[in-house]
Amino acid sequence: MGELIAVLSGKGGTGKTSVCAALSTALARMGHKVLAIDCDMGLQNLDISLGLSDSGAISFLDVCEGRYSLSQAARHDRFQSLAFLTAPLNRTPESVDADAFRDMVRTAKREFDYIFLDAPAGIDAGFELAARFADRCLIVTGADPAAMRDASRAAQRLELMGKTDVKLIVNRVSRKLFSTMSVTVDDVMDTAGLPLIGVVPEDQNVTLAAAFGAPLITHTNRGAAKACEAIAKRLEGRRVPLSIFDIF
Ligand SMILES: Nc1ncnc2c1ncn2[C@@H]1O[C@H](COP(=O)(O)OP(=O)(O)OP(=O)(O)O)[C@@H](O)[C@H]1O
Ligand SMILES: [Mg+2]
Repeated sequence: MGELIAVLSGKGGTGKTSVCAALSTALARMGHKVLAIDCDMGLQNLDISLGLSDSGAISFLDVCEGRYSLSQAARHDRFQSLAFLTAPLNRTPESVDADAFRDMVRTAKREFDYIFLDAPAGIDAGFELAARFADRCLIVTGADPAAMRDASRAAQRLELMGKTDVKLIVNRVSRKLFSTMSVTVDDVMDTAGLPLIGVVPEDQNVTLAAAFGAPLITHTNRGAAKACEAIAKRLEGRRVPLSIFDIF
């Protein structure tokens, strides 16, 4: 049975989509069957971070509503074990039938080892859709006060939803911040009240890879790519110590 992992934040622009794509591609490269689902309806861009074009990709609603089957999900040209469903255009999360969504992810869990849901910003209906059936939730935050506050609100919302496996990823940690990083990361964990699964450095390769239409982990094996590979291994259950050498 596969694992359904929601990548969430609260505050917008913290790096959910970039991290979701890096984790999906890293686990696919490790040999797992992975399905990446863009749940950001109307503002979908997971295809870009995956190094795919969404033209021709079917949406998760196409599958939920029976127009296509999961086996028709787009395949990644570089990682054959990675499939992708985009978010539908011109539909709202409120209009998604929760039972149909649940049935789709249940089927996906039989066919894939990991299913990633890239959530929209905010903690409303799109957040709930992504988190509702998730086995694990990853909250991606920056170390700035606004992101931390929103991560804390997202964590509270998940607690109310009965989610127990919730972990924090602190993204865009800079070298400058690194001199006080242990304090900063502790602060972030305290504020969000969540355990940490990884720290990802500020790395211009995240934006560059997307601009070149390449997945981050094939563009480089350092910086943010290396940090995301370490998180992917932790998701597999491997013990990968958090080391500054993984980050910078
Ligand atoms: N570790 C990083 N280093 C440098 N830039 C990053 C990093 N992570 C993300 N970015 C950049 O930050 C911007 C926002 O990232 P991304 O789209 O992944 O965030 P998001 O949380 O999915 O946003 P939204 O809430 O709008 O869905 C992008 O330009 C991306 O390239
Ligand atoms: Mg996004």
